[in-house]
Amino acid sequence: MAATEPTTLVLAGTGKTGRRVVAGLVARDVPVRVGSRRAEPPFDWQDDTTWEPALRGMDAAYVAFYPDAAFRGAARTVGAFADLAVACGVRRLVLLADRGAAEAERCEQAVRDSGAEWTVVRAGFITQNFSEAFLVELVRAGVVALPAGDVAEPFTDAEDIADVVIAALTGNGHAGRIHDVTGPRLLTFADAVGEIARATRRDMRYLPVTPERFVSSLTGRGVPAEYAAQLAGLMVEVFDGRRADVTDTVERVLGRPPRDFTEYARETAATGVWDAGG
Ligand SMILES: NC(=O)c1ccc[n+]([C@@H]2O[C@H](COP(=O)([O-])OP(=O)(O)OC[C@H]3O[C@@H](n4cnc5c(N)ncnc54)[C@H](OP(=O)(O)O)[C@@H]3O)[C@@H](O)[C@H]2O)c1
Repeated sequence: MAATEPTTLVLAGTGKTGRRVVAGLVARDVPVRVGSRRAEPPFDWQDDTTWEPALRGMDAAYVAFYPDAAFRGAARTVGAFADLAVACGVRRLVLLADRGAAEAERCEQAVRDSGAEWTVVRAGFITQNFSEAFLVELVRAGVVALPAGDVAEPFTDAEDIADVVIAALTGNGHAGRIHDVTGPRLLTFADAVGEIARATRRDMRYLPVTPERFVSSLTGRGVPAEYAAQLAGLMVEVFDGRRADVTDTVERVLGRPPRDFTEYARETAATGVWDAGG
């Protein structure tokens, strides 16, 4: 690779959206640096001395904050990172944010204030939370207990998010835009778990629980109390119906329909990830 070739840093580059962004950029021959605590150079949100080495020589960056842009205090860290990125010569920043969450909107503002060419990609509940995050254990156990009542959510596939992010990182016309990405239809959590049950031919159910019960079930499985409380708080904040709508963003940006939950459930069931002993 020529030293002057523009390069893209993909944070959370081993995570649900980031690893798909990395794969898509590599397939397009875009030079990529994976942002991860295990990469070389390593990138750690909790150690800001790792930020500059990761940013050096980069032209663009995908900013997916860990643990979550909607968690308390995220905006301060994301803002400091965005400012440093611009100081290091990064021209383009694409931020992943949560639809309808106050702290995530503060993250958006911090990136907009950085002076970079910015694009915000907002997403609903990521479908792959059921197979590539903590929910996978609940699905395997057959009872998915969440403080989400009977709210309708436009479950959003990580493949769609990644493709919109790639368009914003590599294409023109995305600067200064908020891409509000959703799946093609609304489902309740009971609907979603029912789809997974059908696809796996297993008995499984969604159980609406209080935030307190959700927190104690997480901490009982070893999840740190602070993380559990923030996650429950986020669910209470956004699962009140404010996200119960679908957008045409995927169709508009990518010229194809968003991936449907039924297709996700069928393809994921075939991998065996939800098998009881999996
Ligand atoms: N989950 C949802 O439903 C949802 C919905 C809308 C928006 N979002 C946004 O999505 C973003 C997360 O993206 P994602 O779901 O694609 O990621 P993810 O699957 O949660 O993956 C996070 C990645 O971050 C890395 N990581 C963990 N701790 C880190 C640290 N201290 N410093 C640097 N990297 C660290 C891990 O990689 P290593 O272990 O390799 O370091 C991991 O692969 C959040 O900011 C959230 O606001 C999520």
